[in-house]
Amino acid sequence: MSSLTNKNIILAISGSISAYKSPDIIRRLQDFGAEVRVILTTGGAKFITELSLQAISKHKVHHNLWDKDAELSMGHIELAKWADLILIAPASANTIANIASGKACDLLTSVVLASTAKLMIAPAMNQQMYQAVALQNNLATLTSRQTAIITPDSGVQACGDIGLGRLPDSTDIADQVAKQFKTTELSGKNVLITLGATMEPIDPVRYISNHSSGKMGMALVNRCIEMGAKVTCVYANITTPLNDKAINIQTLSADQMHECVMKHIDQQQIFIAVAAVSDYRVKNPTIQKIKKSDDSLILELTPNKDILLDVCKLSNKPLCIGFAAETQNTLKNAINKLKNKACDVIIANDVSNAEIGFNNDDNQVVFISQNQQQNISKNSKIKIADKILKIFIKEFL
Ligand SMILES: Cc1cc2nc3c(=O)[nH]c(=O)nc-3n(C[C@H](O)[C@H](O)[C@H](O)COP(=O)(O)O)c2cc1C
Repeated sequence: MSSLTNKNIILAISGSISAYKSPDIIRRLQDFGAEVRVILTTGGAKFITELSLQAISKHKVHHNLWDKDAELSMGHIELAKWADLILIAPASANTIANIASGKACDLLTSVVLASTAKLMIAPAMNQQMYQAVALQNNLATLTSRQTAIITPDSGVQACGDIGLGRLPDSTDIADQVAKQFKTTELSGKNVLITLGATMEPIDPVRYISNHSSGKMGMALVNRCIEMGAKVTCVYANITTPLNDKAINIQTLSADQMHECVMKHIDQQQIFIAVAAVSDYRVKNPTIQKIKKSDDSLILELTPNKDILLDVCKLSNKPLCIGFAAETQNTLKNAINKLKNKACDVIIANDVSNAEIGFNNDDNQVVFISQNQQQNISKNSKIKIADKILKIFIKEFL
């Protein structure tokens, strides 16, 4: 099935009689999982109200280039950058001509010029207008610039004419939009990923943690999103920027991360445990800061709950990928972890090598499942994430 999960689509509506169909286009795009924002041209506003489009898209409709309030929140440049694809449906002959000639005479044409997003247009007009040489030349110009043209349907038109020019069915339009995006290997899948380093309090100002930066986990978050998954990112103490297309939940300690994972795990098909979770916590963290003294200080540690083990024990457990960060006997320890936790995949990660692993942009790992063991040679964490997911998808999905 096609999918638009994680995709940001601008639906631009221009001045055609068929603009009354646009709420249904918004619905179909949303059904495919897209986030939709609407631009309404002055001509479009003659045929459909801003209020109905706002109600269906659940966002303010953008219509005025000179709106000073809009420029303070999501202005035309931000809107242009936000979009993964701009769909103009219906596209009037006038708007097509403006875009073909590179004008920036209103909000829509300015956003189109300012955006690198894929542009799709669905011309809709009287059959004679559609056949006009000027219109066809404009479409040819746009095609030469890689704009995708949605061929109009043929049939009886609002004006009584019969011929090409009718706006196609909304589901057909949404389907053609979804086909513009290739990577949909994880479409329809919910993936929960833990990342970062948990922090175990000693007192209100000190904690026990580790060197994990969250870079490997964030590479997996980003790649899963590109592959069409709905990602829940449960993180602790990371140095990398978050992906705003994920549901991002911040935690601190191993206990908090455990609680958060267990709360959200029911809806997941895949669980990827990348976080470096502290095996122990301080048994009795103090309420007040511990004062310096000449005496030695003994902290009593107590074991934390094992998040991966507890997820793997669930009767409706998702497919589980765990990471084994080891400093010695990496493979042996990783294979033991696979067996002891009964998880589906372990990624063995030798963190004793300073050029890979913790806090580094590169990594080198071994993918281990019951059926196979594959070395993934040294590469950027982004490429490693891609390879892990491709091997996993081939074996399990
Ligand atoms: C009743 C009516 C229906 C119209 N239907 C269409 C149409 O289907 N397609 C089209 O290209 N123009 C149509 N037009 C003309 C456009 O609305 C007009 O060119 C307008 O300036 C387009 O503005 P815009 O491109 O900024 O949205 C229609 C005009 C009227 C009065």
